[in-house]
Amino acid sequence: MAGVVHRFLLLLLFVAAAAMPASTNAAASSQTEALLAWKASLTDATALSAWTRAAPVCGWRGVACDAAGRVARLRLPSLGLRGGLDELDFAALPALTELDLNGNNFTGAIPASISRLVSLASLDLGNNGFVGSIPSQIGDLSGLVELRLYNNNFVGNIPHQLSWLPKITQFDLGNNWLTNPDYRKFSPMPTVKFLSLFANSLNGSFPEFVLKSGNITYLDLSRNNFFSGSIPDLLPEKLPNLRHLNLSSNAFSGRIPASLGRLTKLQDLRIDDNNLTGGIPKFLGSMGQLRVLALGDNPLGGPIPPVLGQLQMLEELQIVAAELVSTLPLQLADLKNLSVLNLAYNKLSGNLPLAFARMQAMRDFRISSNNLTGDIPRDLFTSWPELELFSVHNNMFTGKIPPELGKARKLYMLLMDDNRLSGSIPPALGSMTSLMYLDLSANNLTGGIPSALGHLSHLQFLNLSHNSISGPIMGNLGSNFKLQGVGSSGNSSNCSSGSAFCRLLSLENLDLSNNKLTGKLPDCWWNLQNLLFMDLSHNDFSGEISALGTSYNCSLHSVYLAGNGFTGVFPSALEGCKTLVSLDFGNNKFFGNIPPWIGKGFPSMRILILKSNNFTGEIPSELSQLSQLQLLDMSNNGLTGSIPRSFSNLTSMKNKKLISPQELFQWLSSDERIDTIWKGQEQIFEIKLPALNFFQLLTGIDLSSNSLSQCIPDELTNLQGLQFLNLSRNHLSCSIPGNIGSLKNLESLDLSSNELSGAIPPSLAGISTLSILNLSNNNLSGKIPFGNQLQTLTDPSIYNKNPRLCGFPLNISCTNSSLASEERYCRTCEDQYLSYFVMSGVVSGLCLWFGMFFSIETLRYAIICFVDAIQCKVTQKVSYINQFLSRGNTA
Ligand SMILES: *[C@@H]1O[C@H](CO)[C@@H](O)[C@H](O)[C@H]1NC(C)=O
Ligand SMILES: *[C@@H]1O[C@H](CO)[C@@H](O)[C@H](O)[C@H]1NC(C)=O
Ligand SMILES: *[C@@H]1O[C@H](CO)[C@@H](O)[C@H](O)[C@H]1NC(C)=O
Ligand SMILES: *[C@@H]1O[C@H](CO)[C@@H](O)[C@H](O)[C@H]1NC(C)=O
Ligand SMILES: *[C@@H]1O[C@H](CO)[C@@H](O)[C@H](O)[C@H]1NC(C)=O
Ligand SMILES: *[C@@H]1O[C@H](CO)[C@@H](O)[C@H](O)[C@H]1NC(C)=O
Ligand SMILES: *[C@@H]1O[C@H](CO)[C@@H](O)[C@H](O)[C@H]1NC(C)=O
Ligand SMILES: *[C@@H]1O[C@H](CO)[C@@H](O)[C@H](O)[C@H]1NC(C)=O
Ligand SMILES: *[C@@H]1O[C@H](CO)[C@@H](O)[C@H](O)[C@H]1NC(C)=O
Repeated sequence: MAGVVHRFLLLLLFVAAAAMPASTNAAASSQTEALLAWKASLTDATALSAWTRAAPVCGWRGVACDAAGRVARLRLPSLGLRGGLDELDFAALPALTELDLNGNNFTGAIPASISRLVSLASLDLGNNGFVGSIPSQIGDLSGLVELRLYNNNFVGNIPHQLSWLPKITQFDLGNNWLTNPDYRKFSPMPTVKFLSLFANSLNGSFPEFVLKSGNITYLDLSRNNFFSGSIPDLLPEKLPNLRHLNLSSNAFSGRIPASLGRLTKLQDLRIDDNNLTGGIPKFLGSMGQLRVLALGDNPLGGPIPPVLGQLQMLEELQIVAAELVSTLPLQLADLKNLSVLNLAYNKLSGNLPLAFARMQAMRDFRISSNNLTGDIPRDLFTSWPELELFSVHNNMFTGKIPPELGKARKLYMLLMDDNRLSGSIPPALGSMTSLMYLDLSANNLTGGIPSALGHLSHLQFLNLSHNSISGPIMGNLGSNFKLQGVGSSGNSSNCSSGSAFCRLLSLENLDLSNNKLTGKLPDCWWNLQNLLFMDLSHNDFSGEISALGTSYNCSLHSVYLAGNGFTGVFPSALEGCKTLVSLDFGNNKFFGNIPPWIGKGFPSMRILILKSNNFTGEIPSELSQLSQLQLLDMSNNGLTGSIPRSFSNLTSMKNKKLISPQELFQWLSSDERIDTIWKGQEQIFEIKLPALNFFQLLTGIDLSSNSLSQCIPDELTNLQGLQFLNLSRNHLSCSIPGNIGSLKNLESLDLSSNELSGAIPPSLAGISTLSILNLSNNNLSGKIPFGNQLQTLTDPSIYNKNPRLCGFPLNISCTNSSLASEERYCRTCEDQYLSYFVMSGVVSGLCLWFGMFFSIETLRYAIICFVDAIQCKVTQKVSYINQFLSRGNTA
């Protein structure tokens, strides 16, 4: 209140002073004081350090004065200023015509007193952190021509007073949290040319006042989810001057109105991501001014009309995920200016026409996830000099990978995975000097990995998995490598083996899994200092993983070597990999003790899989220091001794743990690029994946098929987050811990084929989540506990070969001491599926299981789908979930 009175007095003084002759000095000092007071109120005004009384105000940074020496313009964009506007005495700046604070760090609300800037013509507060509602008093600034408040955190309704601004031409309130104004109070805004309300929380039908603002040339109502209803037929009559129309990411439905064809000046039409139906109308082909046409993410259906080939000015055509059933019309080849074409995620079939080579401006080409067949025409790569991104994954292309790709020197992303390409990888790919992403996975490729790929010094992501690629990766040393010697750091001298891979120093994500690769890993392998994710599983690699000197940086998060012929003791080379999160050595020939240093060495480890090797000795109690560990599988080895009591200290197994998708992705690989894409699409991601709220990490221990002995430690029952526990096929004795029932999240418990004795603890019946139980082949005795969950486990074989058990579901009544001796095969002995299921996800309220490998696939699909379109990701994800579900059911 005091402040208001104070300012009011100042205003009176000023008015009084202005009425007198020789007023300019007083005015000058008042504006100087006002600006200095404001500067003093800012928490960061470093950029304004030269604003002092020593210099005349008109010479200050960002300040411009009129002939009378009054401050007329304040232009302070992007200066890192922090603070608010509360302390700026607007009344002291009556001649100010322009206030530009764009791109600073201003917070707080806009004071209503801003209306004292009686001369203001241009107000730009965009790209700051302003909050609160927009003061209706801005509507009093009758000289305002430009109003830019975009990219802030304004809330509340748009004040209808703003529609009264008589001279306004630029009106940009985009990307705030504004809600529905009462449009009935809005007057038409005939002077507005640029109107943007994108990314707010507006809804309802197309706003009436917009239709009455007939001079609009640029209209952006995108990303409001949800303007709804139909796109008005009257648009061309009401807004004849439209050049840019963006209605993307709303809920407009119905057909694309035929009247739009009368918008003869339209250059840019974006109506993607709505609920539009009825196919792609042919009239679009006669809108000769169009540069950008985005129709995707609508259930349009129907074919791609060949008339679109007439759009001579067209630079960008996006019809992703629109249920198109069509071939690729040859006529599109006439689009000589087209640089971006995205037709991914439709039902397109037929060939990729050779004629497309005529689209010489092509920079970004995406037709992934369709049903296209035939060869990928090699001429594309010699005819498209600007090509940067080429994505054809998930089609049915056959033939060889064209060596002409080597001519695509600007190509940074090449995604050809999930096709039926055959033949070998052409060495010419090594000439794609800009390449950062290469995915050739899930094809039918044979032959070796050409050493020329070692030239790809920018390569960050390499996926050749799921092919039939063979040979040693050490091979093809090639003298050209030794000679080339450019672009790699001093480390390359370590790479005396000269393996091509050791030159890929930018590599972050490497997947060679599911091929037929052989031989040892090169010594220099662990020098790939940027490598975060490495999957070499399911190949025929062999040999020891060599120990290295101590001084190397290892940034690996994930190492998958499962299903090879690696041998030797637990590799000390990993000792430097402090950031390791998942390690899978399963199904190899490693032997020797499990080294105790693992416990301290991998503080972030969540997954440790050593199953089906030849590890011997005792389980080191130090493993309990892995405080993040969620999944431990050491089954099928030669481990002896007892289960360490210290396992009760495995902190992450004590509680059920949920993680957000963000965390999940970071965990799977914090690959910077992925992260960047992720952030860039954050908004869209949030919109598109509302159902996928969180993930639950699967928690479990599998020590089955070893030679462990002694009692099951009571302490294990402290691990209340455990969802599965498999201790079967050991020599465990004593009785089952009495409070086993405190493992209240347990879904699967297998203690079969041990030497357990005594009664089954009644608490077991209280585990309501238990759906798999196997206690067969022990010496348990007495009555099987009755009730609750156990009542649903009716298969008697789970109690087989315990000669002295009785009661339901066995056919032995407890008064009868005769022994059950029916032979049955243990059905779950061989199941390994649990170790593949590392996550569960919640999708649309259904609890679904899906696997670790799925999640890694997700990452891959995440990349691809962020590139092509976000929505597909859900599709991919769901289809993978289904796949894993069916696997789970048959396991
Ligand atoms: C505001 O400051 C933060 C750091 O505190 C910075 O990350 C952000 O980019 C700044 N915003 C603008 C618009 O400069
Ligand atoms: C618009 O959103 C508000 C809440 O934000 C809601 O109450 C209203 O029903 C919505 N109107 C329409 C037409 O969807
Ligand atoms: C466009 O603006 C001019 C001048 O500002 C005005 O006279 C005219 O009425 C406006 N046109 C429409 C359709 O509102
Ligand atoms: C809407 O389209 C215009 C071009 O018509 C574009 O400049 C603008 O960035 C788009 N808006 C959003 C939020 O992407
Ligand atoms: C899309 O429109 C159809 C009718 O055309 C309607 O049934 C459906 O609910 C709409 N979907 C959304 C997400 O608005
Ligand atoms: C793809 O095309 C083949 C024949 O060309 C057909 O058998 C198959 O069903 C199609 N797949 C899809 C998903 O449309
Ligand atoms: C891969 O190629 C082999 C022979 O070269 C063929 O038998 C097999 O069917 C092909 N697989 C696919 C998925 O096309
Ligand atoms: C495991 O090691 C033992 C002795 O250490 C050896 O006899 C046995 O053959 C090995 N098994 C495998 C599968 O390598
Ligand atoms: C668990 O850890 C604590 C502190 O680190 C230690 O004192 C305790 O002995 C450990 N428990 C077991 C069973 O090893």
